[in-house]
Parts: sequence; C-alpha cells; structure tokens
Amino acid sequence: MKICVKVPATTANLGPGFDVFGAALNLYNEFCAETVDGAKGGIFTLKGEGRKSLPKNEKNLVWQAMKETFKVLGETKYSLKNLNIGINTAIPLSGGLGSSASAIVGAISLANALCGDKLNKSKIAELAIKIEGHPDNVVPAIFGGLCICVKNDEKNSLPKYSHGEILHLPIPKFKIVLCVPSFELRTKRSRQILPKNVDLDDAVFNSSRVAVLTAAFCFGDYSLLEKGMQDKIHQPYRGKMIPAMDEVIRAALNAGAYGSYLSGSGPAIAAFCENKKADEVRKAMIKVWKKESVSVKSFILDFDKKGAAVIRQ
Ligand code: HSE
Repeated sequence: MKICVKVPATTANLGPGFDVFGAALNLYNEFCAETVDGAKGGIFTLKGEGRKSLPKNEKNLVWQAMKETFKVLGETKYSLKNLNIGINTAIPLSGGLGSSASAIVGAISLANALCGDKLNKSKIAELAIKIEGHPDNVVPAIFGGLCICVKNDEKNSLPKYSHGEILHLPIPKFKIVLCVPSFELRTKRSRQILPKNVDLDDAVFNSSRVAVLTAAFCFGDYSLLEKGMQDKIHQPYRGKMIPAMDEVIRAALNAGAYGSYLSGSGPAIAAFCENKKADEVRKAMIKVWKKESVSVKSFILDFDKKGAAVIRQ
C-alpha cells in the first residue's frame, strides 16, 4: 500500500494576529508512506529543499509525528521496519512558510490514512496543534484558505483548540509575494526572544489592527491592509534578528503592496498585492536584501483553498 499527501505552505500572523491568523498558499510539500514486507523498511527518499539536510532516521519529524499518531490511534503494527517514507519539499526550510507544520500535517494524515481514516480534519487539527505548539500554520495547512484560530481559556476544558473555533475569512483575489532569505531562523528561537508580558498600549494597538485587518477582508477593502498589518507585539523583537525587515516591508509598500509583514516567525517576509503589481513588489523587496548581501528565494503565490489532500496510489 502506498499513500501520499500534498500539504500547502502557510503564512501566519499576518502582522498583528500573532498565533491567530494563518493562510494556506499554493506551494506544496509531498509526503508518501509505503508499506513493505520482510523488514525491508526504514528507507527515507528525500527530494527538493530538504534532500541534503533532513534526517533519514528515527529523528525525522515526519516519522516522529507519524509515530505519535499511531500511538494516539492505538495502532502498533507500523514501524520503520515495515514502512518506507518519501519526502519532496518545495517549501523553503529556512523559516516563515510553515515547512515544519506541513511535515506534521503530512505525517498525521499519512498515519491516519494507513489506519483507516479514524481521525476527521478537526481531530487531525487537534493533534497537529498539540505537536506544533501553536495553531496558525497547521490549521490552514489542513483546511486551506484564510483562517482565524481562536484560543480557549487555558483553564477551559480540553481540547485547547477545536475545529469549532476556527473561522474562515473570504479568500481575496490577489497575490502573495514571499521573499525568503537564505539564513535560517528556528521558530523556537524566534518565540523565545518575545517578552512574556505585553504592554497595555501595545495590546490596544494590536487589537485595533486585528479589527482593521478583519474588516479589510470582510469588506474586501484592501486599502485598509497597510494599517491592518501593523504590529507591536512580535515583529519589533524579531526585527532585531532580521536587520532588513523594516526596510523590506517599506520597500514592498512603496512599490504598491496593500500590506506587508513578517511571515510567521520569519525570516520570510510577505506582501499582499494586486496581480499586476506583484513582480514590481517582488523586485523591490529583493533589492533591499541584495543591498544587505543576503540571497533570497522569492515566490508569487495564490491562496490554496483545499488544504492537505490525501492521494492513494
Ligand atoms: N504564530 C507563530 C509565531 C507562527 O509567530 O511564532 C510561526 O510560524
């Protein structure tokens, strides 16, 4: 039996919506699992971005998340002895486009399909959020589209997040330009540097921007995005590790983008813009990175509407 799953890249936060907003994009990783007889398993076939860097053993995140899923499902018959794993990565690993979320969602979906699809998308999301630690990449990777992830009160009954608390916003008809610098920034590090407490003025500032951002999508008034994507609770801190961040965002806005922000925990930077302005915005962003002698990969993408899709072969 061979099962594959295609999982979209994601862009999270969208500026002020830290751990809340996330969108799926039409750039995909593919994960496959094939059952084999006679203890001939344990072969990892890696292609694309991760072909040289991803581990080909127990430590591989895809295998780790598959193992966790088998545990949750009470399934003991699968191990690396009877499974071969294929990973084809188009999503850059350096950070900001949800590459680890795609691995987690791909792995849970594969293990679930091998076990007869016992988990629905909501349950897949619950487990993926538990493994990833925050919802705004895994949720759009599973459901597609532009999502609002609503966190429960910690003291509330489990689960902390559930499908009932994920809202979908109308999907805009514009492009998302992504510039991904070659230096890596791990999400763990990029979260550790954030202060534990938020200043009240900054909280009010961000609440107002989240309201403007939501209104921009609901009314289809994208002239509101520049203001709606401003943030004071994570970007200023992360910007210290991404020296060109403010200048790249400014360059995107000057070139005609509706809004621009640090994608997820960075170092990727995203800009939302009209189709006809996308290339100009991309060039303006690249120019700033070049000045800083940083090489970048760039993409002009659309929103993905479907989320993770399982393909049985
Ligand atoms: N909301 C998460 C963060 C997204 O900003 O840390 C990580 O991609």
